[in-house]
Amino acid sequence: MDWLRFIKAAVRRPKQVGALLPSSQYLAEEMIRDVPERPSGLVVEVGPGTGPITAPLLQRLADPAVYLGIDANDQFLTTLARRYPQAAFVHDTVEHLERHLPEGKHAAHVVCSLPWAIFAPAMQESILGTLVRALGPGGTFATFAYQHGRVVPRGKAFRKLLDRQFREVTVSPVILRNVPPAVVYHCAK
Ligand SMILES: C[S@@+](CC[C@H](N)C(=O)[O-])C[C@H]1O[C@@H](n2cnc3c(N)ncnc32)[C@H](O)[C@@H]1O
Repeated sequence: MDWLRFIKAAVRRPKQVGALLPSSQYLAEEMIRDVPERPSGLVVEVGPGTGPITAPLLQRLADPAVYLGIDANDQFLTTLARRYPQAAFVHDTVEHLERHLPEGKHAAHVVCSLPWAIFAPAMQESILGTLVRALGPGGTFATFAYQHGRVVPRGKAFRKLLDRQFREVTVSPVILRNVPPAVVYHCAK
């Protein structure tokens, strides 16, 4: 049961997991909105967790070899690697993403579930910098924010940071069929 595994991890490492429940299918669909069936380059999923976004993402991709998942939680990754043997997952913190990308390659799309609103601004800035560098020109970046997390100072700081780092940032309608309700920030480099 993914939700039970997720809750246990959230209780054990609240600052890493940053949520109490896995994302809903509605949030997952919004997160992968900009990823086509045949992307022009790698699709990097940051923080796949128990895989609620991984599942529809891998279903969409014509070739699973373009997918790379990275998560700091070893238990989540063990489960994902067993469930999706066709996909590549690395157990590492996103700060080290660059060393896992093939030499000279950039990502065409980053789908990221990191709990930004609990990260200090300096950490937001350094992690987002890593992700922006990993994205190729014209690449897309999607990440979600819980509604309650958007109004706290760190949530507001993150939104401003997105505006500084990306050419364009749009916000999805509030996804009420997610617990808790959330929006997706769709960003273009
Ligand atoms: C809010 S959960 C999202 C899980 C899943 N994608 C979902 O939507 O339900 C955040 C995920 O990010 C991972 N994570 C947190 N900090 C990380 C870091 N610095 N590097 C890599 N993964 C991290 C956690 O282990 C967790 O799986």
